[in-house]
Amino acid sequence: MLGARDLVLIIDFGGQYTQLIARRVREARVYCEIIPYSTPLSEIKSRNPKGLILSGGPASVYLPDAPKCDPGLLQGELPVLGICYGMQLMAYLLGGKVKRGEKREYGLAWLQVVDSEDPLFRGLPTEMQVWMSHGDLVEEVPPGFSVIASTSDTPVAAMVDHGHRLYGVQFHPEVHHTPRGKEILEHFLYDVCGCQGDWTPKSFIEEQVREIRQTVGRGRVIGALSGGVDSAVAATLVHRAVGDQLTCIFVDHGLLRKGEKEQVENFFKEKVGLSLVTVDARERFLKKLKGVADPEQKRRIIGHEFIRVFEEEAARLGEVEFLLQGTLYPDVIESGSQTAAVIKTHHNVGGLPENLKFRLIEPLRWLFKDEVRRVGLELGLPEELVWRQPFPGPGLAVRILGEVTEEKLEIVREADWIVREEITRAGFDRQVWQFFAVLLPIRSVGVMGDERTYAHPVVVRAVTSEDAMTADWARLPHELLARISTRIVNEVAGVNRVLYDITSKPPATIEWE
Ligand code: XMP
Repeated sequence: MLGARDLVLIIDFGGQYTQLIARRVREARVYCEIIPYSTPLSEIKSRNPKGLILSGGPASVYLPDAPKCDPGLLQGELPVLGICYGMQLMAYLLGGKVKRGEKREYGLAWLQVVDSEDPLFRGLPTEMQVWMSHGDLVEEVPPGFSVIASTSDTPVAAMVDHGHRLYGVQFHPEVHHTPRGKEILEHFLYDVCGCQGDWTPKSFIEEQVREIRQTVGRGRVIGALSGGVDSAVAATLVHRAVGDQLTCIFVDHGLLRKGEKEQVENFFKEKVGLSLVTVDARERFLKKLKGVADPEQKRRIIGHEFIRVFEEEAARLGEVEFLLQGTLYPDVIESGSQTAAVIKTHHNVGGLPENLKFRLIEPLRWLFKDEVRRVGLELGLPEELVWRQPFPGPGLAVRILGEVTEEKLEIVREADWIVREEITRAGFDRQVWQFFAVLLPIRSVGVMGDERTYAHPVVVRAVTSEDAMTADWARLPHELLARISTRIVNEVAGVNRVLYDITSKPPATIEWE
């Protein structure tokens, strides 16, 4: 990442909250990156960070294979904050004592601040709620350190060596259950490390535009637009940098929601002025999906076909050197490829064949999702695009159980439109993570007017979630559900029953396939 702005490096020891630490630091407008604990000292120094944070981790410092950073990091050249395992490691490496806790301390604890004048706790109450999650404890602080906070079970809940600007906290300031944690982190970042808070969407855009221009030169860039926020922000950013050198391809596979293609075309062609190629591949996808009922096979067919269409269009464009991808920072961290090679295949759409080689441009690879949204708004993308709910790559195909046909697509598209319209109109669209309709391949008996019907049920699914890993069904008002049900049965031919899915994830998943 380029830029003259402040940088804080988070050294990862495998803690479950490491990403959360990074998000909190970014929220404090300080740019940070997560690096493996094994990163050599020289490499860390060459990045010229303002400070370091040692993350938590599941290991015990005294085990032979416990992950350890270079003790040279703790010589006082840079301010360091150790969190949980990070603090225990700091204590251990500098000559303190760490002992195995008799029992795990997990949950809320009351922190008693011993030194309220310490920069970390200045201006905060002397008693605060904090979140603990640890087995081991620092029993004796290293020479030069003093204890600045404790809890009833953890005598050393925070320690400091002012001379070397080394801090340790046993609790987790990054989690929501430590209500003043944000301020504690900000104190470390601003008052101890001297950061300025210069990480903003605007500064990110300016820097990326410069960097993209430098990388691309006079080359041509190709990218896929899906209608989702990531590809939209990535494309707008690259367009701002290199204009017409970017061509985007939008594949209409016929599995899109109502109005989606028009929304993408209107905005990107008319407003952004993007060179956009829309490919009408509806028939082609339907033909391939004919007779296929297995969900995984449907996914494979759609992924494969998408790549073929993209490949054909790319070939039509002639000489293209760069491929734009909307990869985000969590993908980068999870794939462990922070120093990834420049040439890769197109993972997001299922893996382009090996022989299709592009140099990759991933302008969002340093951002978390909430930052992508902020950058999108700064770039002038409309709110409905920036706050668009997640939509699976295989589209409506995974919301029609069993075989996908033109008629079923029409039913689910209309029902989905009603669900979206009513939930948005009632003002629940930002509170609910995803809301949609699913068409079941069974039929049941009903009566409409004086006639017996024998038609399909539609399931309405609406869930709240933070990150799609877990989800709960949304407690929507009964009147709203009643309106949705009445409208679907009255307005969508082929449906005579509406069900509301009241299962959380786990044990269910958000989608039905
Ligand atoms: P599940 O159904 O596994 O979904 O609880 C979690 C999140 O992922 C989305 N999803 C998909 N996204 N391709 C995608 O791009 C897929 O095949 C796919 N399946 C599920 C889903 O909408 C939810 O946000």
